[in-house]
Amino acid sequence: MERIFTGLQPSGTLHIGNYFGALKPAIDMLKSHDGMLMVADYHALTTLKDSGNLRQNIIDATKDYLAAGLDTRKTIVFQQSQVPEHTELTWIFECLVTVPFLELSHAYKDKLAKGLEANAGLFNYPMLMAADILLYDTDIVPVGADQRQHVEYAREAAAKFNNTFGETFKEPKERINEDVATLPGTDGKKMSKSYKNTIPLFGTKDDIAKAVMSIVTDSSGESPENVYAIHQHFRDRQSLGELYKANKGKYKALKDALIEDIEALISPMRQVRDAISDADVIRVLNEGSAKARERAAAKMADVRRHVGVLL
Ligand code: AMP
Ligand code: TRP
Repeated sequence: MERIFTGLQPSGTLHIGNYFGALKPAIDMLKSHDGMLMVADYHALTTLKDSGNLRQNIIDATKDYLAAGLDTRKTIVFQQSQVPEHTELTWIFECLVTVPFLELSHAYKDKLAKGLEANAGLFNYPMLMAADILLYDTDIVPVGADQRQHVEYAREAAAKFNNTFGETFKEPKERINEDVATLPGTDGKKMSKSYKNTIPLFGTKDDIAKAVMSIVTDSSGESPENVYAIHQHFRDRQSLGELYKANKGKYKALKDALIEDIEALISPMRQVRDAISDADVIRVLNEGSAKARERAAAKMADVRRHVGVLL
C-alpha cells in the first residue's frame, strides 16, 4: 500500500477555508492509507519564539485535527521534536546540498525580497522537511500548492544521497488537490487570516453569526454574491438554487440559512473538540511519537551504515 506522510505547522486559529483546503482533504486521504501526520514544531520554531505560544499551538493544532475526524487508530500522529532522527538526517542532507541550491527556495527568497533577514533555520527548512518525508519511505505527500517546491527538494535530497552513498531512499511524490476551491472570505477575497475576513472553524455559534452578518452584500442583484460563494460549500447546487430562489432579495434570511448550515457542520466537531483535554492530546502525541521513533531509528541505522559512521 502507498505510504502517506504529511505535516502541519502549528500556527494558530483555523478558519473554514483551512478546513476545506487542508484538513478535510488530508483526513479523507489518511482514512484509506497507511499514513502519518506530523506536527512540525521545529519548523514552527523558525518563526515562533514564544515558548508558551508554541506549546499551546502544538496542542491546539492536534486537537483541531482530532476533532475534524482524524482516526488515530489508523494514522500515526506525532511531534517532530520528539523524534531526534529528523534533525540528525537534516545534517546529513545539508552536507550533500549546496548553498546556491538552497538559495532557490521560495520561502527564503520571499523573506529576502521583503527586506527581512532570514535565520539559518529558515534557510535550511527544506532539508528538515526532506528528512521528515524520507525517513519513513514515503510514497505520497498530500500538501497545498505552496508546498510543491519543498517536496521537489525532498526528491533531490533522496537522489543526491542515493547517488553518493547507494540506494537508500525512495523518491516521494506530492499530491496537490487541484480541485479544492479557494474559499472566499466575508469580503469576497480569498479567506485568509491576514485579510481579517475569516469565519472561524471552531468558534461559537455567536462567532459564526457575527462573521456571517459581516459578509459584504453591496451587490445590486437579487442574490448576495458573497453569501452564495461561501454557501455553495455547504449545500448541493439544487437545494441551494431553491433556497436562493425562494428568498430573492432577502439577504437577512439567506445569511440566517448560511449560519444554520455552517453550524450544522461545525457543532458536532466542536462538541468532540470540547471533550478532548490537553492531557488526551499529549497522550496521543506521545504514543504516536514512540511509534515514529521506532521506524525512524531503524531507517537511521541503515543511513549511518551507508554514510560510513556506523563502525
Ligand atoms: P495558511 O495558514 O494560510 O498557509 O493555510 C494553510 C492551508 O490551508 C493552505 O496550505 C491551504 O491549503 C489551506 N487554505 C488556506 N486558506 C484557504 C482558503 N481560503 N480556501 C481554501 N484553502 C485554504
Ligand atoms: N512545511 C509544511 C507547511 O508549512 C509543513 C511540513 C513540515 C510538512 N514537514 C512536512 C508537510 C512534511 C508535508 C510533509 O505546511
